[in-house]
Amino acid sequence: MKKAYIETYGCQMNVNDTEVIFSILEKAGYSRTESMEEAQLLMANTCSIRDNAEQRIWGRLEVFNQQRKSRPGVLVGIVGCMAERLKDQLLDTGKVDLVVGPDAYRSLPRLLEAVTPDSPQMDVLLSREETYADITPVRTDKNGISAFISIMRGCNNVCSYCVVPYTRGAERSRDARSILREARDVYDKGYKEVTLLGQNVDSYLWKSENQTVNFARLLGDVAAIAPDLRVRFATSHPKDISDEVIDTMAAHPNICRHIHLPVQSGSSRMLEKMRRKYNREWYLERVARIRSVMPDCGLTTDVIAGFCSETEEDHRQTLSLMEEVGFDWAFMFAYSDRPGTLANRTMQDDVPAQVKNRRLSEIIELQNRKSLERYRAMIGKQVEVLVEGPSKRNPEQLCGRASNNMMCVFPALDRQKGSLTSVTVVDATSATLICE
Ligand code: SAH
Ligand code: SF4
Ligand code: F3S
Repeated sequence: MKKAYIETYGCQMNVNDTEVIFSILEKAGYSRTESMEEAQLLMANTCSIRDNAEQRIWGRLEVFNQQRKSRPGVLVGIVGCMAERLKDQLLDTGKVDLVVGPDAYRSLPRLLEAVTPDSPQMDVLLSREETYADITPVRTDKNGISAFISIMRGCNNVCSYCVVPYTRGAERSRDARSILREARDVYDKGYKEVTLLGQNVDSYLWKSENQTVNFARLLGDVAAIAPDLRVRFATSHPKDISDEVIDTMAAHPNICRHIHLPVQSGSSRMLEKMRRKYNREWYLERVARIRSVMPDCGLTTDVIAGFCSETEEDHRQTLSLMEEVGFDWAFMFAYSDRPGTLANRTMQDDVPAQVKNRRLSEIIELQNRKSLERYRAMIGKQVEVLVEGPSKRNPEQLCGRASNNMMCVFPALDRQKGSLTSVTVVDATSATLICE
């Protein structure tokens, strides 16, 4: 059997896609390797979300190309979002043999059959139906405890800064029965946690002749598989997260108390320009609702600094929202203009780089302070953690996440990997709970 090596960039959905790709490649006679040097097929599953994400991949392409030159017969593929965005521009470099978009992975065996050094192959067709529902992913996680399951693909929103609707196509929900089958299957294989993935899980909707399944229903059904199976999900959209979803979480103790709810900006004027379809007040109301039903629920977010026309006042609104909500953690980015998006076509990327970066630093500094506060507020509390394995810093300790997604480290004693255990928080940094 030949060997395939894949590097994955971007979001969790790409991690899951790579697992689907490995499964499809098996049919074409390739097994998975983690060593680039022994592979006959080198691929990067790519991300286009910000310019720096793409720059990194251009760098990796050089490394792959050295292998391709020094070892005749080695093939290089660029797949995923950047393949979809750049299409034949990638082939024109002369450094790539295969360009395959996110909805075209099933054609990999055919493309591999046809590819020769003189005829590179490309398939970047987007689909309205493809969900890879029937493909059993080759799990690439290291510990066999936590599995990711894609429940939908694409995105029907048109946030004006975002390239995803162009690289991933229209939103479609996967057959609920196949999701439940996959979740049961990983549980039977010994996994203790599943994370349901989609760009906007709250708009999940699947219909058959005799039933309609929305996200709340799906979440409840997955949670009902077993009381000791932890269930997580991402990403929620503030405009779509419903009371029904919040109540379903509250009704199932094994649905983890954590919601990733990207706010992007605290300024209603910016949110309007971003086409997020909610405003500051709406967002704060959703947070209040979540916390009234689940006071212990962890909240994390994404923030963009320096979007088109953002003023100091808009920026202060973002800081004040972050101050008010007190997120446990946030992913924070400087706005990156992406070709083809609505913002790129109709707005000016007019916040100077140094202003963007200064605002981003202020956002990061505030969040670090808030994270420390939120983590320190856990001191003295008892939390239930899923044991993932040895702690990275101190191999004599174990680590694992609390239900609210905070990382915990604690003494190993005779605790087993994959078990749920109760620990008491005795100290905290801004990213870790130290427990006894
Ligand atoms: N579907 C999710 C987010 C997907 S992209 C949602 O709607 O929230 C992940 C994050 O990348 C976004 O939340 C946003 O904060 C960031 N992002 C997306 N496009 C960006 C851009 N052009 N520049 C900077 N950050 C961006
Ligand atoms: Fe992008 Fe908006 Fe879709 Fe999220 S919801 S993937 S930010 S377009
Ligand atoms: Fe990146 Fe595509 Fe995910 S652009 S964030 S890999 S959907």
